[in-house]
Amino acid sequence: MHPENPHLIPFLLFLAVAALAAGEAAADTTLSASPAKLSPSDGQIKIRWAGLPAPDGLDYVAIYSPPSSRDKDFLGYLFLNGSASWRDGHGELSLPRLPTLRAPYQFRLFRWPANEYSYHHIDHDRNPLPHGKHRVAVSGDVTVGDPARPQQVHLSFADGVDEMRVMFLCGDGGKRVVRYGLEKDDDKGWKEVGTEVRTYEQKHMCDWPANHSIAWRDPGFVFDGLMTGLEPGRKYFYKVGSDTGGWSKTYSFISRDSEANETNAFLFGDMGTYVPYNTYIRTQAESLSTVKWILRDIEALGDKPAFISHIGDISYARGYSWVWDHFFSQIEPIAANTPYHVCIGNHEYDWPLQPWKPSWATYGKDGGGECGIPYSVKFRMPGNSVLPTGNGGPDTRNLYYSFDSGPPSHVHLKR
Ligand SMILES: *[C@@H]1O[C@H](CO)[C@@H](O)[C@H](O)[C@H]1NC(C)=O
Ligand SMILES: *[C@@H]1O[C@H](CO)[C@@H](O)[C@H](O)[C@H]1NC(C)=O
Ligand SMILES: *[C@@H]1O[C@H](CO)[C@@H](O)[C@H](O)[C@H]1NC(C)=O
Repeated sequence: MHPENPHLIPFLLFLAVAALAAGEAAADTTLSASPAKLSPSDGQIKIRWAGLPAPDGLDYVAIYSPPSSRDKDFLGYLFLNGSASWRDGHGELSLPRLPTLRAPYQFRLFRWPANEYSYHHIDHDRNPLPHGKHRVAVSGDVTVGDPARPQQVHLSFADGVDEMRVMFLCGDGGKRVVRYGLEKDDDKGWKEVGTEVRTYEQKHMCDWPANHSIAWRDPGFVFDGLMTGLEPGRKYFYKVGSDTGGWSKTYSFISRDSEANETNAFLFGDMGTYVPYNTYIRTQAESLSTVKWILRDIEALGDKPAFISHIGDISYARGYSWVWDHFFSQIEPIAANTPYHVCIGNHEYDWPLQPWKPSWATYGKDGGGECGIPYSVKFRMPGNSVLPTGNGGPDTRNLYYSFDSGPPSHVHLKR
């Protein structure tokens, strides 16, 4: 074909050269991540690279999901110097199993020349953030879990003393149910109840970074099922899902007993989340031990009733949506078996235009533009404290409530 415009050929050549320069596809650098599909028992992802000429101390591997993300929209990153052999241009890094983000992960290796280390683009700890230029290698995709299968299962008390609510997340909004009963091994006799499903969209986020491609990811669909007619103080077994999408494990809980003469409550706030890589915000490695000690104590309680009260500042995701996925995966061993109650904190809610503005607070941007929406959709506490969010997004919920469980009465209010 004859191009009508004689300038077009040099222009196309220029584009080809520019594309090469942007990718800097250094001929032989390779990057791989395995396994390509984690089985339920695979606890690690191994990232290996080789053939990197003249490695530099700031070179890094960035983590992406979905694989279509732009280079600058990474979830986080690891410096190559985490591997002893990095100076020789090859090495291996490992990550613990990551949560299912309803899309595969991908890893990309970048150069970061020291003269481009800049304090203009910094993380929450004031360390420079990588700029995502100078990509040299890309791994294959890594799939963790099946998005159709329920993830992030968590319980809470509901308004009726003979009820227990269970919520969970799937990658699609198709029909899911809850099955529950007293006999562990006889699920034929179990009752079945349906679920409601909710989600939220990028346009519902109120501010940066939550409303921007840097922090927004598909949040999946939140299912909400109510188990009813429970006998007080009994051990119930349950699972959630569907025959087509797959089922969760079988979990158990002790039903609420308002006549009980004893209540075991775990009360804490500000727990946060741990993510096993560097990211835009500081995450809380201490939260791993909080979860470990609570689990140990719950096990020691055996079949005595207990509940959790996590009062304000829940995940510290501050707009970075996948941090919520880490949070719910981290608490699932507790929350799938013990009712887990929360109260809103400034790090979920704070934004200048929030409709619920008790006079005792300042209204800044601690919530990273989430304006309480992920918190309000992902949890449903007893009571019905609801306010319109005011931007067409889902209502703000779980602002305040109370419930009885054994002797003390619990009122949740937080600043
Ligand atoms: C790797 O490099 C980063 C960035 O310079 C530095 O902060 C970190 O301490 C280094 N880690 C090791 C193990 O050398
Ligand atoms: C995010 O929200 C802020 C504040 O409302 C707005 O100025 C900005 O344009 C929004 N960004 C996107 C990508 O929508
Ligand atoms: C509490 O209830 C249990 C079981 O009903 C009973 O064995 C125990 O004695 C009671 N304890 C108190 C302090 O009343």
